[in-house]
Amino acid sequence: MSAMAAAGKAKDAPIAIGPITDADIEAVVQLWLDCDLTRPWNDPRADIAQARRSGSAEILVARAADGRVLATAMVGDDGHRGWLYYVAVAPALQRSGLGRRIVAAAEDWMRSRGIAKSQLIVRATNTKVRGFYERLGYAEQPRVLMARWLDGRPMTP
Ligand SMILES: CC(C)(COP(=O)(O)OP(=O)(O)OC[C@H]1O[C@@H](n2cnc3c(N)ncnc32)[C@H](O)[C@@H]1OP(=O)(O)O)[C@@H](O)C(=O)NCCC(=O)NCCS
Repeated sequence: MSAMAAAGKAKDAPIAIGPITDADIEAVVQLWLDCDLTRPWNDPRADIAQARRSGSAEILVARAADGRVLATAMVGDDGHRGWLYYVAVAPALQRSGLGRRIVAAAEDWMRSRGIAKSQLIVRATNTKVRGFYERLGYAEQPRVLMARWLDGRPMTP
């Protein structure tokens, strides 16, 4: 099936969204690579393991009926706000509603934990994705994000 045909079908196809399993890990890492979401300072397998053992985060995976990984969202509860990371949809299936569905599932996860506000960080260079979040009701917040590595390594912009 062509990518376009697959994309057209994704909207109504039976897709299950649930927590990541051991069997999903390599496909999830590949999806993040395909979506250019990995960075040298973030080992994706370590990020997955950290989220899974934290007790305050989940990696949600959207799977096709045959088990293929189609989309992900990492969702976390910092004790006050909810955070989204690694929102990714398989490139051939983008723009078919899957991103909206996986973010909605992550927001439901936040609501179930009493979280009132969902937040995320978009790299300034990722201009494309801002339109997506705006369609979902997110708005840019005039804040300055400050951070430091706790092992003392220098900060890069
Ligand atoms: C961003 C991403 C998750 C969006 O997923 P998607 O499945 O393509 O998005 P959807 O089809 O669910 O789109 C939902 C809405 O956003 C709109 N939208 C999607 N991408 C958009 C874009 N780049 N600009 C403007 N609007 C966009 C859609 O038109 C749709 O609007 P509608 O439902 O009101 O008609 C996907 O493009 C992706 O994986 N990108 C690469 C990884 C990435 O950058 N992730 C974000 C990290 S912060």
